[in-house]
Formats: sequence, C-alpha cells, structure tokens
Amino acid sequence: MEKETAEFTYPGPYPSEQQPSGWKRDDSVLFDPTIHLQLEMPTHVKDLNFADVPFPYSPEEAVKKGGFAYSMPFRCLSEEGVRQARAAVDNARAKYCAPGEHQIGKGNARATHFARGVGYTSQWMRDFTYDRSVTNLLSDIAREKLWPHTMTMSVGHTNVGQVATGKPVDKWHIDSTDYVFIVIISDIEDMEGGLLKVLQQPDSSGTFFLEIQARGVPEELIEAVRYTGPGFGIFMQGSKILHAVTPVLKAREPRYSLVNSYMTTSVFQPDPTKYHTFTDKGFDDRMDVMPLEFARHKAWRIKGQMQFLLSHARFGATPKELAQVLIRAGSELQRSAALILGEEVDNAAFVDDKSAERDVSSGKPRSRL
Ligand SMILES: [Fe+2]
Repeated sequence: MEKETAEFTYPGPYPSEQQPSGWKRDDSVLFDPTIHLQLEMPTHVKDLNFADVPFPYSPEEAVKKGGFAYSMPFRCLSEEGVRQARAAVDNARAKYCAPGEHQIGKGNARATHFARGVGYTSQWMRDFTYDRSVTNLLSDIAREKLWPHTMTMSVGHTNVGQVATGKPVDKWHIDSTDYVFIVIISDIEDMEGGLLKVLQQPDSSGTFFLEIQARGVPEELIEAVRYTGPGFGIFMQGSKILHAVTPVLKAREPRYSLVNSYMTTSVFQPDPTKYHTFTDKGFDDRMDVMPLEFARHKAWRIKGQMQFLLSHARFGATPKELAQVLIRAGSELQRSAALILGEEVDNAAFVDDKSAERDVSSGKPRSRL
C-alpha cells in the first residue's frame, strides 16, 4: 500500500469565504488572465543535484519524481499585471497601516519588511494566486500536483527590501511551505544587490541546517541568481533549499518580491508547514485568523488521507498497513492541536549571519529602518 499512498493526491482547498473582521476585500479591479498574465516558461531548471535540466522536460526527465530545486527566472505577469499586483500590496499597506492586528505591512528579525493578508484585502491577488494556468505550469515544473498553500494569510505575501539599509532583505533560511514562487513587482533596472542566493546543497532541511547555523554558510557552495525584471519570477522548492536575499545597495525604488506559497497535494507526504513561522515569533499573523487557517490546512490533509481509505484502499491491505494510516493521521492531528495550544513548538529557525549585514560599497554606518 506504500506505493499507492505515495502516489495518492487529493484536490487542494479554496480559501474560507469568511472575511476577517476589519479587513475589506477590494474587488474594484478583477483579475483577467488575458490582460494580467504573460506566462512564459523557464529555459531550464536546476535539479537537487544542481545540474541544469532543460525545460520543458524531456520524456525521461518528466517522469522523474521530485528532485526539483529551482527554476531560472521566467515571465509570469504582464506590465499591467505587475501594476495591479503592486497596487494590491500598496493599497493594503496604506489602508491598514495602524499598528495592531489589522496592520498589513510589518517587519521581523528575519526580513526587514513584508506585507501579509493581501489575499483577504484584494480579490485580484486571490484570483491571480488560484489561476489554473499558473498552478498547472508550476506543477509541471515541480513534477507533482501543487496547489496554493491552504493558509490564506500567505496569499500575496510580499517582501519589501528598502534601499541602502545594509540589511539583508531576507536572511538564510528554508521555507516552511513546500514551494514558493517569487515574482518581482518593482523596477529593478540598475539595482545593485537584492540577489537571491541559493546554497547548492541537495537537502538543507534537518541536521544539515543545524550544522550551518553553528558553523556559518559555506561560501563556495553559494550561487547568486539575478532576477530579469518586473513580472519575472523564480520558482523554488524552498523547503529543501537554503536561501537568502542580499541587501539592496542601490535601486530606483524599494525591491518588491511577491512570494506565493504552494503545497503538494500528495497528502501522505510529510508536511513542512511550521506553525511557529506564523506566530508573533515569525510573521506575526492575526491570532483570530491564523490558528483556524492552520487547523483548516490539517483538516484538508487528514480528510485526504481518510478519503484514501474510503475510496482507494484495496481489499488485501494488511491490518498493519491500515493501522499505520490511522495512527499517522491521529498523531498529525494530536501534534497540530499541541502546536496551536502552544504545548509544542516547531521552530523554523533562520541563520542570523551578522556578516551579511554590511554596506560593501562604502562601509558607512548602517542607516536605520
Ligand atoms: Fe524563503
């Protein structure tokens, strides 16, 4: 039964139709793929051995399971699409700027400034995120069926890298969702810095990550990826690949990267979603919204696992195999309950590399945010 569960996928859910209090969903501009998308394909991707693989995949490559690391930049949004994405983020940041639970633009110790919750304040952003042509292309690249991550606070997550602060836009970390699609939505012509750095290491999760937290990031394994321009994105299996964004040294405007999160629909795969990331120790998401989002996410996964037993498991499955599915589902639920009650912590750590905080061009004291 192991093979059947490994291959089983369950359709991902849509966001709740409930609206968090205090936030209004702007639907004055509706997403139109014919106007807002300009979906192209990456010329090639890197696999987890960091070999270049041409895309679209050859028939032999297409059937390989997993093994995808990150793509070269490829176009996703048209010029008008970039304008609308940017408007969705900036309108939300301007409208909900008062400190407190309704605030959209925030900062933390890992990333200097980011906006979260735009999927609740902009119908455009929500519809762009759930557009099938985008999710299908990303699934083809990943070689598995993907869907936007259940936790809607992450829809339209945008990092805003202020210019010349000397601080990394985002410190070395692995993501707590399977995949991310990072689309640039600002003018990066002549920008210095703001590079995506990727560690060429097949799987940075687990013990390797603990080691480099202690020893630092090995310079010789770092590759810097340069974004092509606004509307272009890089797709990455961020839960496996250690990555960071270098300080923006010079640019015409702050660097905006729209980071949408995707999850596998293989509900028996381990779930990298870390509750801690979304709490006040991380993204500081609304506590009247985020715990329910996490519970919905787990409800979907376990519903999928139970659906396998209801409709797909075959006569002849052994009691041990069946019990294993039930036990795993039970412990995933138990652990989820302990996490939202604060009885357990699944800390998604980042590497606080002070040497990354420097203004290499001048050596001037760092300006404050
Ligand atoms: Fe990331």
